[in-house]
Amino acid sequence: MAVDLSVHIGNIVLRNPIILGPGPLGRRPTSMRRFAEAGCGAVASKTLSSQPWKGNPEPKRVRLPYGALLNAEGAPNIGIRAFSEQMKKTRSEIRDCKVIVSVVGKTIEEFVSMAVEAGKMGADIIDLDITCPNVSDKGEIDSWQKDLGLLERLVRSVRRAVKVPLWIKFISAYGTLLSIAKTLEKAGADAVVPFVSIGAMAIDPETGRPLLGCRQGVGVLTGAPLKHAELKAVADVCRTVNVPVIATGGCSSGSDVIEFLLAGARAVETHTVFMYEGVGYVERMIAEMREYLEKRGIPRIEDLVGRTPEYLPKETFTFWYR
Ligand SMILES: Cc1cc2nc3c(=O)[nH]c(=O)nc-3n(C[C@H](O)[C@H](O)[C@H](O)COP(=O)(O)O)c2cc1C
Repeated sequence: MAVDLSVHIGNIVLRNPIILGPGPLGRRPTSMRRFAEAGCGAVASKTLSSQPWKGNPEPKRVRLPYGALLNAEGAPNIGIRAFSEQMKKTRSEIRDCKVIVSVVGKTIEEFVSMAVEAGKMGADIIDLDITCPNVSDKGEIDSWQKDLGLLERLVRSVRRAVKVPLWIKFISAYGTLLSIAKTLEKAGADAVVPFVSIGAMAIDPETGRPLLGCRQGVGVLTGAPLKHAELKAVADVCRTVNVPVIATGGCSSGSDVIEFLLAGARAVETHTVFMYEGVGYVERMIAEMREYLEKRGIPRIEDLVGRTPEYLPKETFTFWYR
């Protein structure tokens, strides 16, 4: 039985719901191409800044048990200009696979010019990395996610400046998951990407020192242990906004992708499992999704989207949220 793995996200069609999310595996256009060739529906660049960034001191990443990873990379990247030069050679070789360019700015103006650059280099989708800090009106470093009025102004400004679809990932700590999702929708995001990660730490038991090299000693947890918290986040966000939802956090198999779709996501951004298993793992995930559909006689993977919320009350359980 031929099964159809394609998914629609607004006007975008992906050949399947597996997306290489932003991260070190998308540091160069050539590595994005490898994931496209392996079969991903879309591939994202590492988040790009206007100037090259060195990021935090080493170690930037710590491998943890159970498929988890801790990172405090501090957004190292080669800068949008160098990346764009490289993309000129590679863009036409990324076929049947959408290109997501993730950008970051310290101010609204910088974000706008970065998004315009991303459009020029042939991005099918632009991802604004609002999880990186901004510089506030008072000149202080702060989080885009804390001030929803500022966040709304940011997304509206970028929306006005570019026609390319905007997908926005946000970290949903501290009970603000639903209010951030609603703000992004109101401001014109074409899809929202809730990421349930939490701040985390790893300690060397011999010395008592944090294992991450950054000054704060803390970082972001990713990988398999996040899966069930992310399933909940997706189901809650899907019942709160009408724009498409993309899952990210804890997906490590084709059957995990199926579960995220059942929860209401239309695609899944994955990174950690590819760092552990390599690019060849994409093919295995695709085979698992096909097998699931074939065994059950389900012709289209999209038929699964949002089935679980049908068993849930319409209103989300607000206990968790501010
Ligand atoms: C080492 C590392 C670096 C990452 N860098 C970025 C980044 O630059 N920009 C971004 O939006 N997400 C970044 N991410 C987040 C991933 O795109 C993804 O959303 C997250 O890892 C959750 O998915 P996973 O559990 O499948 O890894 C990074 C993740 C990892 C593991």
